[in-house]
Amino acid sequence: MVGIHEFRDFQRQVRLYNRKCFWPKLDSTIVIISSIVLTYLFKRFKAIIVIGVMLMYEEHVLKVIINSKYLVAFTGAGISAESGIPTFRGKDGLWSKYDPTKLASPWGFQENPKLVWEWYKWRMSMIMNAKPNPAHYTLALLEKMHILKSIITQNIDGLHQKAGSLNVIEIHGNIWKVKCTVCNYRSRLIEPPESVPPHCPKCGAILRPDVVWFGEPLPEDEWSRAIGEASRCDVMLVIGTSGVVMPAALIPNIAKSKGAIIVEINPETTPISEIADIKVPEPAGVFFSKIKSLLRTFQ
Ligand code: APR
Repeated sequence: MVGIHEFRDFQRQVRLYNRKCFWPKLDSTIVIISSIVLTYLFKRFKAIIVIGVMLMYEEHVLKVIINSKYLVAFTGAGISAESGIPTFRGKDGLWSKYDPTKLASPWGFQENPKLVWEWYKWRMSMIMNAKPNPAHYTLALLEKMHILKSIITQNIDGLHQKAGSLNVIEIHGNIWKVKCTVCNYRSRLIEPPESVPPHCPKCGAILRPDVVWFGEPLPEDEWSRAIGEASRCDVMLVIGTSGVVMPAALIPNIAKSKGAIIVEINPETTPISEIADIKVPEPAGVFFSKIKSLLRTFQ
């Protein structure tokens, strides 16, 4: 028999025990019920939740952009995809249909300059008819607002300039520029050459597109400017690049190593996603059209 104190103490222990026994039951019951409720809510309001999350993306990214001291953009083929210009990699990429060693290398050109020029003529006609999309225009607007300091692009399509951007560093050249394979003649075309391969008006040798092919070094001035901008920026927008082609893909890593915030805009995951502080899994044109409408409030 236990005294009153012992009995009370016993009752207390029983209560503790029950609690220990009961609460976990209760806890697990609560967990089960709440997960059922949450799953139901998510299924029921998935669209709204997803839109909510997406809305958060552009507002969050806009805040980072507006608060930046030195904003730089690094772009690849993906930014021009919504302008109808195919990218290189991925299932519908150009390199899944064409051989880059034959069409985008000095030895492929040596072997068959006519074939290479026919391919560039096709790309020139596509690019000539292409229009910049909201991603290009929003970057041009950010430059006009003195927020975006420069664009480092791997693209040779000139759509940034067509959208009104001024400070564009073309590290892989430009498809409208040509240079002589023998003398130092260089020029700019306004339309695809009628007959290919075109010849140098100065020495008669074959002209080649003034772009960077596989196995070739990047143009020195542009590359050192690009490294300078990447080292200086506090925010870098990395838009539409697979981040696998060197040395270009070093640019976001240089910026990151200097402490910059990396914002990646790409529907796919890339090696740059690993260093990205913000990852926006959306097509650039779609995403920046929302940024552009939000930006209006700042103008
Ligand atoms: N918005 C944003 N990103 C997109 C979109 C879009 N609408 N569409 C595709 N992308 C992404 C793809 O997911 C892919 O990661 O753009 C990227 C394009 O990658 P690549 O085709 O490899 O192009 P890029 O990174 O520019 O290639 C680098 O390789 O072939 C050479 O000289 C060429 O400059 C080029 C270099």
